[in-house]
Amino acid sequence: MKKIVPTLLIAGIVAGMGSAIAADVKFNPLNNPSNPSEFAKEFRNYFYENFPQIKHNEYNMGVYGFDKDAYSQYKNMMEFPPQDDYIAKGKKIWDSYKLPDGKPLSSCVGDAKGLRAKYPYFNTKDGQVHNLELDLINCQKNAGVPEDKVWGPKQGYADLAAVSAYLSSESDGMTVDVKIPNDPRATEAFNNGKGMFFRKTGQLNFSCADCHMYHATQRTRSETLHTGIGNTTGFPVYRYSKQKMITLNNRLFGCMRDTRTIPYPQYSTQFRDLEYFLAYIDNGQVINGPALRK
Ligand code: HEC
Repeated sequence: MKKIVPTLLIAGIVAGMGSAIAADVKFNPLNNPSNPSEFAKEFRNYFYENFPQIKHNEYNMGVYGFDKDAYSQYKNMMEFPPQDDYIAKGKKIWDSYKLPDGKPLSSCVGDAKGLRAKYPYFNTKDGQVHNLELDLINCQKNAGVPEDKVWGPKQGYADLAAVSAYLSSESDGMTVDVKIPNDPRATEAFNNGKGMFFRKTGQLNFSCADCHMYHATQRTRSETLHTGIGNTTGFPVYRYSKQKMITLNNRLFGCMRDTRTIPYPQYSTQFRDLEYFLAYIDNGQVINGPALRK
């Protein structure tokens, strides 16, 4: 059964797309400026022009920003927000966790307040995009936590996601403000992420843009597709259908796998560059995680 579900979902999406007319497909990323800030402006304008029904400050709601039925389901689910338990659990772990040298996780990444809003960022020392969860994982590794105790996609994931949820709540209401420093490697990371968004991959030959740009807001049999803005603001998100908290890298991994592409490993350079691109596009949007999704 496990394998059949995504296949049916995608079959539904593909069937839905066939009958739908794509929004303005004139947007061609290759003709657009390589300067990230000019590119981001054009990218956002594509959505503002094609989807005037979405208010700028509601892009951070995903599909709930424009799909009324989905929004009313969301309101029901939010009567007892399941995220609250995760925030409480995450805070407990964050406050009590000790590295082998007795120090807390904040000794690596800094205090909880506003921490999530500092990520992702490009570090000019190591030339890499840093992601909050990977920095927590590396903090454990560098402090000598035994390999089978280090959090990651395969083990300790619930703890990692809970801490991420708590940290997100500590940046709730802050504005996304991702910088691209004056370093050619930073622009390269952005462009790599942009390439991942527009490149068609996998057996279904879909790009992220095919679903979340050219067919954004369209209904498929079982899903409505959200847009290219607001991909990062609500993460981690509690998914009702899975009954668990999911980090952004997990979601990106899932979206890639569902198009029958062999996904990159979570927290790989590729996914961090993609996160960097998506988060830069989200500049100016308000962080509202941990959010709730169907
Ligand atoms: C075949 C269509 C399809 C493709 C291709 C696709 N996605 Fe998705 N994606 C979905 C559907 C359906 C959902 C669930 C409904 C929604 O939020 O749009 C989703 C959800 C998401 C979410 C969660 C958004 C939220 O608010 O909870 C993110 C983030 C995302 N996709 C990013 C991507 C990225 C990045 C790519 C490219 C690597 C991608 N997707 C490729 C169909 C697709």
